[in-house]
This record gives sequence, structure tokens and C-alpha cells, in this order.
Amino acid sequence: MCGIVSAISATRNVVPILIQGLKRLEYRGYDSAGVAVINGKLQRVRSVGRVIALEARVADDHLAGDIGIAHTRWATHGVASERNAHPHISGGVSVVHNGIIENHAEMRTRLRDMGYEFLSDTDTEVIVHLVHSKLNSTTTLHSAVRLAVTELSGAYAIAVICADDPQHLVVARNGAPLLLGLGNGENYAASDAAALVAVTRQIVYLEDGDCADITLTSVQIIDAQGKTVQRPISRTTQSDAAVELGGYRHYMQKEIFEQPTAVANTLAVIQGDDSLTPAIFGTEAERVLRTTKAVLIIACGTSYHAAMVARYWIESLAGMACSVEIASEYRYREPVANPHTLVIAISQSGETADTLAAMRYAKSRGHLASLSICNVHESSLVRATDLHFLTQAGPEIGVASTKAFTTQLVALSLLAMLIAKLHKRLSREREQELLNDLRYLPTTLCRILELEPQIERWADKLHTLDHALFLGRGMHYPIAMEGALKLKEISYIHAEAYAAGELKHGPLALVSAAMPVIAVAPRNTLIEKLKSNLQEVRARGGELYVLADRNVRIDEDEGMHVIRMPDSSGFLSPIAYTLPLQLLAYHAAVRRSNDVDKPRNLAKSVTVE
Ligand code: G6P
Repeated sequence: MCGIVSAISATRNVVPILIQGLKRLEYRGYDSAGVAVINGKLQRVRSVGRVIALEARVADDHLAGDIGIAHTRWATHGVASERNAHPHISGGVSVVHNGIIENHAEMRTRLRDMGYEFLSDTDTEVIVHLVHSKLNSTTTLHSAVRLAVTELSGAYAIAVICADDPQHLVVARNGAPLLLGLGNGENYAASDAAALVAVTRQIVYLEDGDCADITLTSVQIIDAQGKTVQRPISRTTQSDAAVELGGYRHYMQKEIFEQPTAVANTLAVIQGDDSLTPAIFGTEAERVLRTTKAVLIIACGTSYHAAMVARYWIESLAGMACSVEIASEYRYREPVANPHTLVIAISQSGETADTLAAMRYAKSRGHLASLSICNVHESSLVRATDLHFLTQAGPEIGVASTKAFTTQLVALSLLAMLIAKLHKRLSREREQELLNDLRYLPTTLCRILELEPQIERWADKLHTLDHALFLGRGMHYPIAMEGALKLKEISYIHAEAYAAGELKHGPLALVSAAMPVIAVAPRNTLIEKLKSNLQEVRARGGELYVLADRNVRIDEDEGMHVIRMPDSSGFLSPIAYTLPLQLLAYHAAVRRSNDVDKPRNLAKSVTVE
């Protein structure tokens, strides 16, 4: 993954801009960081760990310069170490890179034969030597980078500076996000506009194949065909305040508590309407959804769990076939395309490499149309799909996704209703009823968040254990999966989720006092079956933690802990039951003194395969 930021200025030291930008990009990786500037000569500072560690090193070294590049890393090739941290250097050339160079091994051999010495284990180092070698046959840094990238295969966003040419910053992208920021007497480039909002709001999004030459006063973009092109300037609306912690201890906690507002903001598209309009998914949505005969949803991680819930909704409400695929698997299968299928990609960031590639692949196989559900307006995914719905979760900083998930579910519930309506499967009364339930949802979520003290008591017991099982049935099975994912990713407690009916086919063998079982027990047609599954656990000495609808008879007892959930509509209950599981994972992780917002080995935006 990794985040890159770079700047050139006529009047000031760019190091504070770069460090500030890196802090905003830490969600992309946080195992090491580095910065290089030109100040007469090329100077570089790198350090293992968070950007804050780099900031201290930079201050100690009094690093300053009016042109520079910087990087925060999520290791792919080579362990997290100072030696492998970017920027990498070859002579006076320095490079930062996000992505993976797939032909790095053969390039390495070729460059070694040319006399280059490799000092790191990274794939990136081939880029810097390659650019350096191209400077022998061309006069400008821009043309050297353009020549170099033609020999690279894989994904990259790069920023390059050269000590002999301190008036030029050169950047290029192919399959990894990169944008330019336009300032006054200074210009910038970064992986995400969030890195630049403190210095500019004027953003130019590069396309794959673009290579840009940035000076103090100009930007020249050359596309993959070698033509000079103009890309539109847009104004980012990202707010700096939205990424402050406020009074919360962690971003994840803040984001869990923001869910009533995030859901209400996402529902603003239906405000005041007493019936659903297809236009909320784009101007072409009505035509596309009317001709849609089946749905295929692709996603990764938490977004995949949202897709799994949507399958239940679309099948039961709209009576339409819906398949759900993990993007990283789908992209390498030989799926049989149906020309009447709408392909939906769900992604908080809109930059997940596997999801983007799976969407491209699905389109190439001849499906009807594409739709994205995304939280980032300017993302690659939104730009690549025919229709889109933007969730209004606001910036999500914690690596573990929370409010993005629940707002995705809101969007998917609207979509299921809309498909049902356009296919004449939704009566007027049912539509009204569901819209009312949706409007009441933020209030329900506020009431659920009041359960936090009870959930903390569960966390007190659970955080010392090493394993946990999560159970759910029907559309709450994906919610159990999401609960297990949250617990493992931030508390590092090994957790597995099972559709409760599957327990007897294997996992029951694991049940003991040391293996707590956390169950989601809403009031629905499967509740009696779930209760039987819970009895199977109790009969084997398992300790149960049950989130139960307040009207379901499950009594607290020895080994049976119950939290009563406020009333929540049957259709939307997966959203409601998510919140206590998020809180449970959060409080277990806090009790284990983990870095909740930046769990080990992970990153928020996974822009590599
Ligand atoms: C990473 C994040 C997860 C997220 C997944 C998919 O693994 O840590 O929280 O669910 O990527 O991300 P997306 O942006 O495509 O929803």
C-alpha cells in the first residue's frame, strides 16, 4: 500500500508540509517512513515505525529543502527496516513508490549487470536505478522517468527528484492512486487529497499511464500514448476537522459513536420523500435496474460482509438472484458472465486493488452495467463505474472499518428496496414501512450505543482468552463474521464465525470453557433453531455471550450472559447487531493495550494485490 507525498515551493521549507501530509496518509501503512529533500545536495532521513518517529529524526537533523518527497510504508518486499524504508536513492536520484513492481527480479539482475549496487530488499529500488540509468540517454528527469516506466510491469505511483535538477518534481501512476495539488508558488503530489488539504484544495486526478512534470509554476502531464494532456481541476471538499479525534481516545471509538450521524447523513437522499427514487443511484439507474435480472457483488474484507448481508436482502425482498464474490478470488476465476447481471462493487476507499481489478474483469466479461457503493467521492472505483452511491460516513481513519460498514448496509438496503420496487415486488405499504424503519434507524443506533457499559463487562471477561467463536444465522451470519473479523484484527484474539447450524459439523469439538461463544440472536424465523444451537454449546460446557432481542426468551444463567437489544426492525437488524460487536472488539483490544487504530501488519487502504 504505502502513502506518498511530495512538494516543491518557491518560498518555504517543504519538510513540514511533507510530514503533515504523511500523518494524513498513515492509514495506508505505518511500519516505516522517510523523507528526501534537495538542499544543495540530496538529503534523506528514514526511520522505522510511525511518522511521529520520523518527525523527531527530521527535527534532530534540521532537515530542510524547497523540494522533497516522502513516504509511509506498508512492507511488501523486504521487512520493515530503515534499509528498506523509502525514499530510495541512486546517485542524485531519489524515488518513493506505492505499488508492486512485478518484474523487479529480472530488472534487478539487469541493473546489477549494468553495475548498480542494491542496498535494500525492495522492489522499489529497481525504479530508482532505472531512472538513474535513463538519465544517461536523455536530458530531462521527466523523459527519464517516462522511459523508465515503460520497462516496469505491475502497479505503481511514484514521485522522483534529482539533485542535478532541483526545479522539477516528476510523478507517474499506473494502477495506484496519485493526484496533484496546485498551490500558489508551490505545487504538490500525493496518494490522497487528505495529505494536501492543509495546503491546497485544488486537485488534479491523474489517470493510469500519466507522467507529470511539476515545477513551481507549472504542471505538464503526458499520458500513456505520449500526448500532452490537460486533466480537470477539481476542488476537494475533505475537511481537516473531520479527521480530528475530538474527545475520544481512539478513532475507532469515535467512528463507532458517529454511526447514528453517518447513517442519518447517508439517508439524507431520501429525506422528505415518501417513496424511493432510482435517481439516488445515478441518472441511468432506473433504466439499468429495470433491465437487471441478476446481481453480482464483489468486495473485500468488511465490505464483503456487507455484500453478504445484501444477498439476503436482494433475494428475499426483490426475488432476484444475487451472488457475492471475494474480489481477489473472482478476478482469477473463469466466471460465467450473464449479460443481464448488474455488477456491484462495494468499497469504503474505492481504491482497493483487488476490487478495482475484479470490477474491470467483470466488465470485460460482458455484464449489463456496473454500480459502486463507495465512501470516497473522487476514488478510482467511483470513476470506473456506470452508477454509484456515495455513503456519507465521512473520513474513516481507524483501520478496522465501522461506520463505513453500517452506511454501506444502509445503501444496500435502499438498493434492495429499489430493485424490488422497480420489479413490482414491493407494495406501497411495505415501502412506507421500510422507509420509516430506515428513518428511525439512527435513533435505534443511539440506544444501542448506550449498551456500552454492559459490553465492557463482557470485554473484561473475554480479553484474557485466546480464542472465540461467533455464531449467527441467516442474514446475521455475515454479522457474526464481521464481529469475528473485528475481534481478530484489533484484539489479536483468534476468532471464527460460523453459521450456527454448522456448529455440529466440526467446530463444536472446539467448545470448552476456554472457547467463549458469542451469538447474535435477533427475533426472526430462525430464532428457535438458533436457541437449539446455543443449547448444544451449553451442554458441552461452553460459555455463551448472547446479544438477544428483548422479546426473545433466553435467560441469563451460569455460563449464559445475555445483553438485551432494543427493538430493531427485522429487515434492518443486521445493522443494529453490528454495533455491540464493534464495541466488544474495541474494548477487548483496549484492555490488551493494543494500538486500536493501527493494528499490527495491516493497513486501511489495500492498493496492492
Ligand atoms: C482493508 C481494511 C478493511 C477493509 C478492506 C476493504 O483490509 O483494513 O477495513 O474492509 O481493506 O477495503 P475497502 O476500502 O475496499 O472497503
